[in-house]
Amino acid sequence: MCGIFGIITNEEQILGPILIDAARRLSYRGYDSVGCATVSTGGEIDLRKDVGCVNDVSARLRFAEMRGYRGITQLRWATFGAPSYENAQPHLDSDGDMVGAHNGNVVNNVQMRELFIREGLTVRGTNDGETCVHAVERHFDRNGGQMLEAIRAAYNDLEGDYAFVITHRDDHRLYAIKKGSGLVAGLGDGLTCVSSDLPSILPLTRRILRVYDGEIVVLSPEGVELYGVHDGARIDRRTEWYDGPIEVAEKGGYPHFMLKEIHEQPTVAGELLHLLNGSRHVGRFLDALRAPGGRPVYLVGCGTSYHACLLGAYYFNQLAGVAAVPVLGPQFIEQYGQSVGPADTAVFVSQSGETKDVLNAVKVMRQRGGRVLGVLNVLGSTLMNASDVYLPLACGYEISVPATKTFVNQAVLFLYLAHRLAERDTAELDNLPGLLALVTELSEEPARAVTAYLQGWDDLYYLGYGLTHPIALEGALKLKEITYAHCEGIFSSEFKHGPLSAVHDGYPVVFIAAPGDEMMMINHVNEVTVRGGRSIVIAAQHEALHSNAHDYLVVDETDRYLWPILATVPAQLVAYFMSVARGIDPDFPRNLSKTLTVD
Ligand code: AGP
Repeated sequence: MCGIFGIITNEEQILGPILIDAARRLSYRGYDSVGCATVSTGGEIDLRKDVGCVNDVSARLRFAEMRGYRGITQLRWATFGAPSYENAQPHLDSDGDMVGAHNGNVVNNVQMRELFIREGLTVRGTNDGETCVHAVERHFDRNGGQMLEAIRAAYNDLEGDYAFVITHRDDHRLYAIKKGSGLVAGLGDGLTCVSSDLPSILPLTRRILRVYDGEIVVLSPEGVELYGVHDGARIDRRTEWYDGPIEVAEKGGYPHFMLKEIHEQPTVAGELLHLLNGSRHVGRFLDALRAPGGRPVYLVGCGTSYHACLLGAYYFNQLAGVAAVPVLGPQFIEQYGQSVGPADTAVFVSQSGETKDVLNAVKVMRQRGGRVLGVLNVLGSTLMNASDVYLPLACGYEISVPATKTFVNQAVLFLYLAHRLAERDTAELDNLPGLLALVTELSEEPARAVTAYLQGWDDLYYLGYGLTHPIALEGALKLKEITYAHCEGIFSSEFKHGPLSAVHDGYPVVFIAAPGDEMMMINHVNEVTVRGGRSIVIAAQHEALHSNAHDYLVVDETDRYLWPILATVPAQLVAYFMSVARGIDPDFPRNLSKTLTVD
């Protein structure tokens, strides 16, 4: 949620295109509003911002022509303060001498704003990013214009987790601070920059400097200095050379990133299996999973990553006899936070590696002395650094807000680990990429056809049994996330215990039946159809089940454990086509953000 980027260069120039590119690369973090500010060598601040996505706002406000030698851009996912011009970032201080922007949440925002108003500062909106700027302004005015000291004092006033970047027209530097939210600095030729994450820095430089919580970054064109916020002491840290790929955010001929990423699933699954077969980390990961000696392993995630944990728990239990407990990040804290200890292991799963709900659970596990294993897609993320051992998902950059390929690879990774724990041959998993390619090709038309019916409904269910329960939850999440219809995923046998009352003429219910579960699923289908509901079934070819269903999407029979991963594809495609048919951009659904770094 929210992304910030700041840059300072050795001469005044047109900075707009650099800021726009950085904003585009950060836009998966929020697209409620966007803004840019530049500072000229004469100290003039040019601030342009508005509600909307980067392409629209930057064209309308002509960001491309913005000049200066210092620049800031911010992408907002609204938490404090509705999306509006006033709440769009960056923000000016009262007299327009300072400009800054933040990412994160200042939880005492309301109290701070009241204080500023009482003290006569000019508060224009209700956003906590503005609060960060005023908090610095207040101390700056009192301490005779020392930015570093003003930021240190502001840190003591601002409660919550955040990072912000700020500059003063008369101080030829850019300042940033990290407290709980992501921040990394880059050192290029004649420039230095700071950002919420790497992709916006890499086009400018591969020389990076890691920043940790409680540190202030001072940027000048010549270099970057770090200071501890508590004692103000200078911190020496070596820069690093990043030699990983620079991800290119291209749709590659597809109309949306989501469709492209669905089509990448066969490739990334193959790459992940290849990586796991040759990885040193897998052995250490497995040792940690075996260590508890009968104690359950916790699989912790949120949203789609949680659904992968649910599937992983089935794999661990059914294939390897390893007791695994799938649990949401905050639920882990509430339910097990007092009982886990040094003998316990938890696998924390997160595409971004920055989800606060997951990182909070990591913190609790650490405090309790347990082992922290990480599964993540974004290398260099907070989760990666916080893990005793981690495994990458190797999906490349996932841009579309709805997770697709990362879910598939989370499931593949759990299946692979379950095979290894069970000492089963993993060779059969090598069929997965080919099977995923086939199901993607064969599912497009049937998924489109089903969408034509679902289109007229704003309420439906996805039902799965056992291994397909996580897929039903994931299908429902995808659908509600990008079509705005209400869709619930539940365990199919639970439907008759209450939700069945929703069924009336034509009411759609999607069933997912794994090979072997078809005869039992016929009962669940009939409970719906005899009441006038419409049954849409995703299953392998099965005559009896087929004859009981209204619509039937075939996913060819294969190994019972591989099959749920394949069945994910038609569910993803149904959501995608329905979203497009509704005129929604599936890549950037309203109100959402790809990376949720707030509680
Ligand atoms: C998935 O489509 C969602 N965008 C969301 O549920 C996501 O999976 C969740 O926010 C967790 O993100 P993470 O994997 O980066 O931790």
